[in-house]
Amino acid sequence: MDQQLPGHLHWGRRYVMVEPTHFRVDYRINPFMDLADQPDRDRAMAQWRELVGTIESLGGRVEVLPQRADAPDMVYAMNLGLGVVAEDGREHVVLSHMRYPQRRMETASAQPWFAERGFRTLYVGHEGVGAHLEAGDAFAFGDALVVGYGPRTEELALKHLATELGVRVRGLRITHPGMYHLDLAFCPLDERRAIVCPAAFDEASAAALLDLVPEPLVITEEEALTTFCANSIVIGRFVLMPSCPDRVRARLEEWGFSVVLVDVSEFHKGGGSIRCLTNPVDVTLGRDLPTVPGGEVLLPGA
Ligand code: ARG
Repeated sequence: MDQQLPGHLHWGRRYVMVEPTHFRVDYRINPFMDLADQPDRDRAMAQWRELVGTIESLGGRVEVLPQRADAPDMVYAMNLGLGVVAEDGREHVVLSHMRYPQRRMETASAQPWFAERGFRTLYVGHEGVGAHLEAGDAFAFGDALVVGYGPRTEELALKHLATELGVRVRGLRITHPGMYHLDLAFCPLDERRAIVCPAAFDEASAAALLDLVPEPLVITEEEALTTFCANSIVIGRFVLMPSCPDRVRARLEEWGFSVVLVDVSEFHKGGGSIRCLTNPVDVTLGRDLPTVPGGEVLLPGA
């Protein structure tokens, strides 16, 4: 495998996932969730296992956290926290402070799980009283941690993140209720390219994102919402996608990527897809994300 190809992402080889033993749709905190359309338990488990197997067959590593019985959305492991490896090799996870109380207990279980495995766990601000921050809204790309705010993450959290991690944060204001996390509208592919759905953002933020990505693969609102194709993950030159419009596939292949499809449709009923189910914990400061003493926040139009 050409894992050393220049320009390819170095992160995205190590994931934390939650086994869906208690996945249900119990409440409605995003427009996809419909209590009358419950996931099939066996099919969800089979889809999840296939995703794990596919990641491993492509050279990724998966560690599994058990699901709490009272936390049906915990399967969307991406939202538990933001993993960052410091330059000295120490692993950190910035735990999310979820917007909705229905999900807040998830991090209470994730914290000891990460701590037992050697991660330094922290909340920005204070647990339960700080600004809302949901991982899934933050991805390293280019010279910054790109952070979507609005529906879930609050603007104040950007400042906390920048200071705590000592990085540049580029904020993007999400305005589309169906793309409530950044990972539904933005997927870094390599150092120059990303899948981008401008319809998720206000005008200034959409323009800022298109400026930031030298070669964007622009998708429409409809493509983002019906195929979840931005909610994909990248392992070297492989892009694991829930489905892929022909046009998107053609561009990815032209760029030298191979598309690998994994059906996770049961999880679309809760409003998440492949990226939401997988939390990469190998983003490394100084390699994937430059450090900036004291941190810095850049907002569009500011
Ligand atoms: N039902 C979950 C919620 O609304 C879905 C989370 C999807 N995760 C993601 N990373 N986009 O919070």
